[in-house]
Amino acid sequence: MSAEVQRSIGSSLRGGAIIGTFFHAPAPDRLDVLADTMIVVDDTGAIAAVLAPDAAERGDKEREYDGRTLHLPAGTYGMPGFVDLHVHAPQYPQLGLALDTPLAEWLSTYTFPLEARYEDLQFAEERYRVLVDDLLANGTTTALYFATQHVEASKLLADICIERGQRALVGKVAMDDAQSCPDNYRDADAEAAISGTRAVIEHIRNHPHNSEGNVLPVVTPRFTPSCSDAALSGLGSLAREYGCHIQTHCSESDWAHGHALSRFGVTDAEALDSFGLLTRHTVLAHSNFLTGADLDRVSQRGAGVAHCALSNIYFANSVFPLRAALERHVRVGLGTDISGGPSASMFNACLAAMQSSRMLEEGVDPALPPERRGRPGSRISLVTAFHLATAGGGDVLDLPVGRLQPGHKLDLVAVDATRPEGGIRLFDTTESTAIFEKLVHGATRANIAAVWVDGKCVLPDPPAGPA
Ligand code: GUN
Ligand code: FE
Repeated sequence: MSAEVQRSIGSSLRGGAIIGTFFHAPAPDRLDVLADTMIVVDDTGAIAAVLAPDAAERGDKEREYDGRTLHLPAGTYGMPGFVDLHVHAPQYPQLGLALDTPLAEWLSTYTFPLEARYEDLQFAEERYRVLVDDLLANGTTTALYFATQHVEASKLLADICIERGQRALVGKVAMDDAQSCPDNYRDADAEAAISGTRAVIEHIRNHPHNSEGNVLPVVTPRFTPSCSDAALSGLGSLAREYGCHIQTHCSESDWAHGHALSRFGVTDAEALDSFGLLTRHTVLAHSNFLTGADLDRVSQRGAGVAHCALSNIYFANSVFPLRAALERHVRVGLGTDISGGPSASMFNACLAAMQSSRMLEEGVDPALPPERRGRPGSRISLVTAFHLATAGGGDVLDLPVGRLQPGHKLDLVAVDATRPEGGIRLFDTTESTAIFEKLVHGATRANIAAVWVDGKCVLPDPPAGPA
């Protein structure tokens, strides 16, 4: 290393470089270990070059970037930031609470009353700031957020993401059905749901500090049970008009799946499609009960699924058949589903996805004979789970994030495996794949030493400049 002062861990990497050992999973069954690798970042925060130790230009680039290079310390590893494809931002205060009732009751008893309180912008601001900071501290560099039904509080969540530098997609929740939504917490009618959504889209698109578009709007019908036909079709048209992302819940539980069949006479996915809500930029949360034909339809439309394995244990009555979806070429990423899932960590989302796939494969009822107990061929590997939590989520959103390769954004997490207060104990593990496995299983927030979004350091706070 040069005698000159190099960049420190809290520095921006724009126009600079970082040298260290990195892990990423560019394909579902491929873990790349980039040992002693130099990643060069351009002025816009995109990766300009990824140079192995023996790359022809490596020596020249090291000299060129001398003084602008961050060297990760021994025991600290870089990996792409996580893409959390399903977060209910207002539900963070009830994380870990109220997980003892079925979905419809959970919504009406606990969740709608909590979300209704976000009409109070001070209440909202205090909680949204904590959430965004906590997700960044857990390594989530991109989050796809459901806000609440309120226009102003939804704008506020977007403002906070812009201010903190988190890459985010923020949707005002549309919910206008008078029977399923409480009077104090719903859009007055379909027109209000649509005009409120439009107002939030305009706010985000025209925000003076969002010129790089790192925060995007999302059309967000909560789920078909909470929306009128007029709202669903109006929101489909709105998404087409603005060319923006769409998110909703689809066939999450027996109840939600059955609701669509009895109301529309077709599956939830088919109904969403008929309203223009199944597009290349649609993210369907859960989707446990998609039929084979639904999976083909979702795949043809290019829509994606946010697989929320932990939440599914509580509310979905089943395990999402992830392997089957991947085999039918459905794009899939992972979500925490805060607070249906009681963890804000995408490391936990990876583990839950991998573990629940094993339970689907083997089955869970010991009273059944092994050959009837599970669904063979369902398991996914830890590498596949990590791929889905990073590159897979980026692919669903059509954003260049999740891989450490030229052209992708430098959304990066530095994991320090040596911290005594963290959850990783490497002992004498030296083989790189084993280190990766230990990182994903053990990493806690205390292990996350630094986080960059778009090449800018968002954690820890950048060192103060000269007075
Ligand atoms: N379906 C409709 N709203 C919700 C929600 O907030 N969480 C979950 N898990 N499912 C839903
Ligand atoms: Fe959800």
